[in-house]
Amino acid sequence: MGANELGDIARIDTSQEQTTEYVLKRSKRALGLTLSRRALESPTISTSWGAREVTGRMELWRRNLADGATFYGAHLAEKLVGFVLVSWRLSDGTVELYSIFVDRAHRRQGIGSALVAKAEERAAELRAHTVHMSTTMANAAAVDFYRARGYRLIGVYDTTKVKDKGAEISLAKELAS
Ligand SMILES: CC(C)(COP(=O)(O)OP(=O)(O)OC[C@H]1O[C@@H](n2cnc3c(N)ncnc32)[C@H](O)[C@@H]1OP(=O)(O)O)[C@@H](O)C(=O)NCCC(=O)NCCS
Repeated sequence: MGANELGDIARIDTSQEQTTEYVLKRSKRALGLTLSRRALESPTISTSWGAREVTGRMELWRRNLADGATFYGAHLAEKLVGFVLVSWRLSDGTVELYSIFVDRAHRRQGIGSALVAKAEERAAELRAHTVHMSTTMANAAAVDFYRARGYRLIGVYDTTKVKDKGAEISLAKELAS
């Protein structure tokens, strides 16, 4: 997917319904904190990115591409229905999966898994040993999606003070050498 196709991302319905979230809880086990999944009292629906949000991200994406990142798009009948953005090989020998979105009407059909597989293929091509990514802890569906694909917890960061969102979670998968 080249820079000329980035505008098409505005036509992907990136919204999602959130019914569950992960939260950090004090526990008597291990170091005293555990992650647990809980149902939201009132499910929320995040809004889809429109042209404004996509335009706002465009400069960063162009810079990412110029720095060696790769966009992979998923197409159905020539329509863009999903994408993943994968970094270049970072200095610690890892690759970061920056963003992954599948159009809401086309989820749970294997497109997200195919995009992750593509990202991992790219990481292997770059001779990276690990793929990692971050998402908000509240995004339980994404966390479960990555867990089911072999990603494991490597960190939890309380970003509430610097960003207008809850704690962030980092997950990683070591690639077979
Ligand atoms: C996460 C996302 C990319 C997955 O794409 P997808 O095309 O639906 O993924 P697949 O069809 O390959 O895999 C679906 C699997 O992921 C998990 N999963 C996906 N959505 C889920 C949900 N809402 N609840 C629970 N598990 C979910 C399940 O394991 C599911 O497998 P199953 O259908 O056999 O139960 C997509 O849901 C999405 O775009 N979400 C909004 C954006 C987002 O959260 N991105 C990640 C932020 S970094």
